[in-house]
Amino acid sequence: MLGNKVLRSTLFVGMLALAGLTLSFEASAACQLVSSNGGKPLNIKPVDSDTPQAKEFLETCNNPYTKIYVKDPEAAKAGRKVMTLNGCTGCHGGKLEGVMAPSLRKDGGQGAFDTKWAYEKHNTDKGLFETIAGGGANPGVSSAVMPTWHNQVEGHAGDGLTTDEILKAIAYIRTQYHGDGEKVWLK
Ligand code: HEC
Repeated sequence: MLGNKVLRSTLFVGMLALAGLTLSFEASAACQLVSSNGGKPLNIKPVDSDTPQAKEFLETCNNPYTKIYVKDPEAAKAGRKVMTLNGCTGCHGGKLEGVMAPSLRKDGGQGAFDTKWAYEKHNTDKGLFETIAGGGANPGVSSAVMPTWHNQVEGHAGDGLTTDEILKAIAYIRTQYHGDGEKVWLK
């Protein structure tokens, strides 16, 4: 009797473990975004209107526009347009040189974050996406706060941006980087 019970519970535990394994496989297939404001999961889902590039990013954490824009200034204009139309340049400057917010060129300026990223994770496109989509820490690392932009994130500025628009802005920011060190995002 006892033997049977032990067997049954062992089987049950085994099945639970298998179910857990399947679940974690499913979860790890997608890019796990976290908020730059507290580190909670940033829940951005693919939608029907997403471009193939947006879908690829949400699946792999890889921004396909980065390598294209770095080689092709004409294509990079699409990212610049996102930033001028949405007022990013109002705070970060027309040349991203930093005005009321840190420089995104990182080639010098007045502030502590005009030569290095305010958040170390901004060495990756995933990290930049997390801060642009879900906003910066509050209070911000540089003491001012970066607003929230993704249209799926509560409290976003204006009409909000799509995943694709944010990826284009990021790829454009990469073309404007003039700071030191390895350009890890090109790997
Ligand atoms: C209201 C002013 C404001 C606007 C508009 C704004 N930002 Fe920012 N942004 C900030 C501030 C302030 C920070 C620094 C946040 C911190 O220190 O925590 C920041 C940080 C950033 C960073 C990280 C910089 C670093 O050094 O690590 C990026 C990238 C960025 N913003 C991109 C954008 C993009 C793209 C847009 C438009 C969609 C935008 N910002 C619009 C104020 C702004």
